Amino acid sequence: MKVKQSIELSLTGIAAKGMAVGRTSSGVVVFVKDAVPGDVAMVYLYKKRKSYFEGRMEKLISPSPDRISAKCSHFGVCGGCQWQHLSYPSQLEHKQEEVHQNFVKIGSFDFPKLEKIIPSKSQFNYRNKMEYSFSNSRWLTKAEIESGEVINRNALGFHKPRMWDKIVHIEECHLQQEPGNEIRNFVHQYAMDNGISYFDLKQKTGQLRSMMIRTATTGQIMLVIQFFEDQPAQRKALFEAILANFPQISSLQYIVNQKANDSIYDQEVILHAGSPFIEEEMEGFRFQITPKSFYQTNSLQAYELYKITRDFAELTGNEIVYDLYTGLGTIAQFVAKGAKHVIGIEAIPEAIAAAKENTKRNKLSNLSFISGDMKKVFTDDFIATHGTPDVVITDPPREGMHKDVVEQLITVQPQRIVYLSCNSSTQARDLNLLTDHFAIQKVQPVDMFPHTQHVENVVLLKRIHA
Ligand SMILES: C[S@@+](CC[C@H](N)C(=O)[O-])C[C@H]1O[C@@H](n2cnc3c(N)ncnc32)[C@H](O)[C@@H]1O
Repeated sequence: MKVKQSIELSLTGIAAKGMAVGRTSSGVVVFVKDAVPGDVAMVYLYKKRKSYFEGRMEKLISPSPDRISAKCSHFGVCGGCQWQHLSYPSQLEHKQEEVHQNFVKIGSFDFPKLEKIIPSKSQFNYRNKMEYSFSNSRWLTKAEIESGEVINRNALGFHKPRMWDKIVHIEECHLQQEPGNEIRNFVHQYAMDNGISYFDLKQKTGQLRSMMIRTATTGQIMLVIQFFEDQPAQRKALFEAILANFPQISSLQYIVNQKANDSIYDQEVILHAGSPFIEEEMEGFRFQITPKSFYQTNSLQAYELYKITRDFAELTGNEIVYDLYTGLGTIAQFVAKGAKHVIGIEAIPEAIAAAKENTKRNKLSNLSFISGDMKKVFTDDFIATHGTPDVVITDPPREGMHKDVVEQLITVQPQRIVYLSCNSSTQARDLNLLTDHFAIQKVQPVDMFPHTQHVENVVLLKRIHA
């Protein structure tokens, strides 16, 4: 079959990145953007790969019974949500299936039947953190171009997928908690009215570069604005206007970043007003969150995730527990009452400093925190100093664990490992290396991110040899 033509296709399943998948009459797989399983559609085949086509939906012939109308006006353009047009029960079903498929395809190990995925407590307004970019190169939709209207190209929003220099201007986002939308729209309007320049990604000029809004279940709000060129008088006036309109912002901070990239991790964060952190609360524990620190983005669902982790760890009070990739030490503190001692390891020094501070304030005394790259810290010497763990909880980033870390787990032989992952394919890869020594006892998917294809998964492993 030839590329650059339209064909009628029945979509039957979900593939990576939330795309729907179907087969041509000759059996070749087609991955289709914007469609959902159950749709019958005219699909334009725009790219031919070695063993499959990539296509986009041109016309919906008959909609899937699972298809719903998306709530957001930016759906399909912004790229943040892939599945707002798929009913929530169906999203859950596909997430469960994705974990299952990754375990079957990537894993060559035995695993028990997956527990039923735990749905998110809220399906909208669940995100406690959003990062927006400013740009003078706004992405224009086809309709906007065809309208002939003159549209100001300053945008505050999200990067258009696969377009590094284009920003989709956002007027509403149903994933983040309020008053995030109000703050973002206010800052955009103020900047436009007062002629504050937006970043030019190609020329590397302009003032406003990015903005992060964080909220917490305690009601505290953090706003961090990143500037490229800094004009203190304009910045001060902007901040005064923000605080006058949003007195509930409890932490207003900024960064002046003149590097090529906008990562804040190697940048100084300057406090303009309020506190340098906001606080999250869970079972009476308070966790201080600083601009650079990781905190689970769905706070209510993080509580569900941590309860599962604590149950899987089966602590009796006598165990030495290692919490690898501890972030702010939230899991470490959450399980500490049930353990003899908990040791948290994390790469970001500021997160470790906050973890230590949180532990003191939470009046816990049986925890230690160490910062550094996991593969360099989690060594034989480290174990000789801190004791052999009975239980290891591990929650790596999307890339999974470094091979050396997995090998060290095999050497150390804890009785139990609780492996949390936001990427079940790298998790399956790591489990492949572990399952000669540890048996998978439970697999519990959790939905932390409704309307996206992402799924969190918790696995309990038990040592095979006594
Ligand atoms: C998915 S987060 C888990 C955080 C924490 N367990 C929680 O629930 O909030 C992954 C953490 O791993 C840290 N990290 C990433 N690469 C690392 C490495 N090579 N060594 C140590 N920590 C790392 C990140 O900074 C982040 O805090």
